[in-house]
Parts: sequence; structure tokens; C-alpha cells
Amino acid sequence: MTPEIWTAVDDYFGGLLVKEDAALLAAVEASAAAGLPPIQVSPAQGKFLHLLARMISARSVLEIGTLGAYSTIWLARALPEDGRVVTLEVNPKHAEVSLRNLARAGVANKVDLRLGKALETLPQLAGEGRGPFDLIFIDANKSDIPEYFAWALKLARLGGVIVSDNVVRKGAVLDANSGDADIQGVRRFAEMAGREKRVSSTVLQNVGGKGYDGFAISLVVE
Ligand SMILES: C[S@@+](CC[C@H](N)C(=O)[O-])C[C@H]1O[C@@H](n2cnc3c(N)ncnc32)[C@H](O)[C@@H]1O
Repeated sequence: MTPEIWTAVDDYFGGLLVKEDAALLAAVEASAAAGLPPIQVSPAQGKFLHLLARMISARSVLEIGTLGAYSTIWLARALPEDGRVVTLEVNPKHAEVSLRNLARAGVANKVDLRLGKALETLPQLAGEGRGPFDLIFIDANKSDIPEYFAWALKLARLGGVIVSDNVVRKGAVLDANSGDADIQGVRRFAEMAGREKRVSSTVLQNVGGKGYDGFAISLVVE
């Protein structure tokens, strides 16, 4: 199997099942035109997050890592009219593009975008009494996943779901001696999640138009 086949299969099901609309396509185009890296979730993954939010009847979502708000749009669309996504982004240019993409998609009223380093905005959110969140999507720099996961545990409701993206990294996660801070971040996270009694977790490896990677999914059980 080759990456070309993974992409072709993503495209096949994308047309039949996922069905990105004009606003989602425009968000990707505008992000690329503004020079943002093409590292948003794939359409199939965006729809997966959307369905997951609906499956748990989510009303409040926290996203760490906005980029151009592609995944944010999928998540916001899963929420009822009074539902909210809080999304955290450190890069002002990414935030600016996101605000335009969210407005074009008609979901700006459901999204609270916080500019700043997530490890600074997370304590602020907690201080404001935001949460508990039904769904938390961790998708910023991978070196800090363990710290984001610790915050997610504080901010998620019992029965809530925490999804952490990019935990397989083409299998590089297996390299215990890796000098890559992102790999070490994922490995520290996996060890932490495995020890943590408050969650029950698994990892789904996936392939597709975005290559070979995976999601960790944790259910908050106590
Ligand atoms: C993989 S992208 C997010 C993709 C987005 N969730 C999507 O699928 O459409 C990661 C984003 O996290 C942001 N980021 C990186 N480090 C961060 C930090 N310390 N705090 C907040 N955001 C950060 C990056 O600027 C980038 O926009």
C-alpha cells in the first residue's frame, strides 16, 4: 500500500460521506493563500471530530491549536446554537485567518478564539471558571502534549472525551532515544495516560491524505 492509495481512498469516501462544503473548502484555500502550513486535520478526520462531538451531545469544546480554524468549523457545527468552542492559538497570523474563516462559515458566534501560548491561556480559562468541557481536542505543539493533557484532565467533565492528534508520527513514536522533542512529548503523554486512573485511553492509527499518524482518545471515567 502506498500514500497515493491512502489519498485516493480518502477522496473516494470524502465525496460520498464526508462532503466538505464551500466554507470548509474556502477555509483551506484561504489558509494556504495566507501561507499557513497545510497541517489541518483531513476532511475525514474533521468529520470524525464532528460526529464524536454529536455522539456525546457536546455543548462545550476546547481546542488547543487552531491554525486556520478548519477543525474548529467542523467542531462548531456539531454544537447546538448555544454551544461554544474555545480554541487556543499562539500565532497572530493564524488567529487572524481563523477569524475570517469562522465568519465565512457562519460560526463565529459559537467560537471564542484566545490568542497566546496555550500554557498561559489554559490557566486563564481555569481562572475564569470556564468548563467543564465535554470534548477537548489537543492539536498544538506536540512537545507539550503531556502538559496540555494535564490541563485537559482539570477542564474536562466526567464522561468527557480528550482527543490528542499526531501521536504516531509515521511510527517515529517507537524511538525511545529520539532527539525530537515532539516524539518525546508524545511518549511522555502515552506513559502518563497509561498510568492515569481518571481516564481510559486507546490509540487509533490512521492513514490517509495526511500520511500515517494517529489519534489518542481518552474517556474521563472518574
Ligand atoms: C496542527 S495545527 C492545528 C490544526 C487545526 N487543529 C486543524 O486541524 O485545523 C497546530 C497549531 O497550534 C499552534 N500552536 C503551536 N504551539 C502553540 C502553543 N504553544 N500555544 C497555542 N497554539 C500553539 C500553531 O501555531 C498551529 O496553528
